[in-house]
Amino acid sequence: MQILHDVPQLRRARAAWRQDHARVALVPTMGNLHDGHLALVRQARGLADRLVVSIFVNPLQFDRPEDLAAYPRTLEEDCRRLEAEGVDAVFAPADAQVYPRGRENITRVEVPVISELLEGAHRSGHFTGVATVVCKLFHLVEPDVAVFGEKDFQQLLLIRRMVADLDLPVRVEAGATVREADGLALSSRNAYLTPEERARAPALYRVLRELAGRLRAAPGPDPAALEQEGMKALEISGLRPDYVAVRRREDLLPPQEGDRHLVLLGAAWLGRARLIDNLSVDLP
Ligand code: PAJ
Repeated sequence: MQILHDVPQLRRARAAWRQDHARVALVPTMGNLHDGHLALVRQARGLADRLVVSIFVNPLQFDRPEDLAAYPRTLEEDCRRLEAEGVDAVFAPADAQVYPRGRENITRVEVPVISELLEGAHRSGHFTGVATVVCKLFHLVEPDVAVFGEKDFQQLLLIRRMVADLDLPVRVEAGATVREADGLALSSRNAYLTPEERARAPALYRVLRELAGRLRAAPGPDPAALEQEGMKALEISGLRPDYVAVRRREDLLPPQEGDRHLVLLGAAWLGRARLIDNLSVDLP
């Protein structure tokens, strides 16, 4: 497995794969890999001849400096796990490789509307940071296919929208959310939970499942009332919700009469950790 730390190294590897007429898959990550990331890696493995995983804690997408400073960095252990998965190359650039003129001055990719909703409303600038770095990674790695997790459902839609709007020649594939036995979605930030908080954390997914059951009941309740119920249920479980939302799956706007393909999304604080999760619901 090649470990590439700078752009010229990556460009050379990419040129060699092009000569081999190899199809390339990319899984972008911020490292501190868990089984959710590895599931995406295995999915991507089957989609191309060469597999690249990027590991870059992207400062541009962090809205709180303390979150960026605390974000776990475990490059050696990550590389060990990726090598065992048969990954061809890890691209792990330093900040100066990605933002050589400083991140304040970089040209940015703004994806309208979706960047402002839900996560975007609570994390100012977050999705512009995500879209900008993923656009750069797509240009550097030139993947034929890239895999993103449904765990970050809004991020997945944002990337699809950017790819469509900018005609980027990459296929975007979605990977299902990997969960602990008690339902908690795997996340690098789960490490911030104390044992007592960890025991409460499955409430987020449990509440989303309860709301999904209520939505499917006919006649289904009003989405706004359901969102309020969900917020209350999270508070009772000791979480501090940022939002619970019933949205259309295609664009995350509020559902209109007749919309059948929905997604429930939630974000809540638990101690130092901010948890997010979502659940797709198809109405009969
Ligand atoms: P990161 O949080 O490291 O996640 C990398 C990828 O793993 C994302 O596509 C995310 O949706 C997916 N993922 C995270 N937890 C998962 C789980 N439990 N099951 C399945 N997939 C999961 O998302 C980012 O990094 C960054 O925003 C990035 C796209 C790399 C841009 O910086």
